[in-house]
Amino acid sequence: MVASREIHLKSRPHGVPRKDNFSLVTVEVPEPGPGEFLVRNIWMSVDPYMRGRMYDRESYVPPFQLDTPLEGGAVGEVLRSHHPDYKPGDMVLHMRGWREYALGDGSMTKLPPSGAPSDLYLGLLGMPGLTAYFGLLDVAGLQRGETVFISGGAGAVGSVACQLAKIHGCRVIASCGTDEKAHGLKAEAGADVAINYRSTDDLTATLRAAAPEGIDVYFDNVGGEHLEAALNCMKPQGRIAACGMISQYNDVGEGVGIRNLLLMVSKRLTMRGFIVSDFMHRQAEAFAPMLKWYHDGLLNSRSTVFEGIESAPDAMIGLFEGMNTGKMLVNLCSHQQHGIEVEFI
Ligand SMILES: NC(=O)c1ccc[n+]([C@@H]2O[C@H](COP(=O)([O-])OP(=O)(O)OC[C@H]3O[C@@H](n4cnc5c(N)ncnc54)[C@H](OP(=O)(O)O)[C@@H]3O)[C@@H](O)[C@H]2O)c1
Repeated sequence: MVASREIHLKSRPHGVPRKDNFSLVTVEVPEPGPGEFLVRNIWMSVDPYMRGRMYDRESYVPPFQLDTPLEGGAVGEVLRSHHPDYKPGDMVLHMRGWREYALGDGSMTKLPPSGAPSDLYLGLLGMPGLTAYFGLLDVAGLQRGETVFISGGAGAVGSVACQLAKIHGCRVIASCGTDEKAHGLKAEAGADVAINYRSTDDLTATLRAAAPEGIDVYFDNVGGEHLEAALNCMKPQGRIAACGMISQYNDVGEGVGIRNLLLMVSKRLTMRGFIVSDFMHRQAEAFAPMLKWYHDGLLNSRSTVFEGIESAPDAMIGLFEGMNTGKMLVNLCSHQQHGIEVEFI
């Protein structure tokens, strides 16, 4: 038996999650049985979609249950194994995060020997990176030389999307919530124009000034006012990849509608929603070029790291306060190597 601390959902948030919606619980994890192995989690992913699972409603993933551990992406090290394919020291990617130790079975993915730090499998080389890749190149059908607007540009998905668009020879306009993030978007993610949406009271006018000829592709991470501004500035036949709408995840009541949707008709726009899991069978197609661009220095990775399992609720709340630049992570084992450009909290 090993004592393990884990984060439970204590109550369902009303609006932005609060610390008292979560509890830290210590449990005993049994020794692995036949076909099982014990994993010590090292990195935990903190993702906006988890907020959706805190509602008690049907969606593409089932809701979290009260007084049970949250689930989420994690990378850990195999400590003890009774599974022939996993040995102590192997690093695995899996969904049994939000706890210090987990029992694994054959469904966990062994990290390939790529030369990349293990935390990158939760960001650039993991789910957020694949979301940016397939959202831009497949869902939006990005073409060389086009003008792209990416909201949430300084986050995990957005910062990869900006860099991928640059690699594909596009002009990139990105939005984010602070001047510091805007500076980083231009200096590190290659954005041609970075807009701090909090410092403009007319996002449409700011976007129009940034793209006087109009926008070919909008990669939407935010929804709401960002989507309205993008619709106003889209070129005819433009395409919108609806990746996420974080501005609405904590809405209470009916929320606010998009007032200019009629532009979809007059401009003959296409808007397509997607979930990255739809593309998991094509993971290898994205992984090979992404890894090469990473090793060639064309794709860089940023993370914001909270320390210790007890900080995980703060990290989750921090997503909605814009506390992260790049991937939001929790580190459970601080001596482990991490990817470049880490800001510890
Ligand atoms: N479709 C899919 O399969 C898929 C997969 C992964 C993620 N997603 C979606 O992609 C989006 C980005 O996810 P991520 O993991 O990369 O998160 P992230 O962008 O790293 O983190 C969230 C960021 O959103 C911004 N934000 C928070 N509340 C906001 C608001 N009310 N208005 C505007 N911006 C706000 C904050 O940055 P600022 O400082 O810039 O405000 C915050 O740092 C989310 O909508 C997520 O749900 C979709």
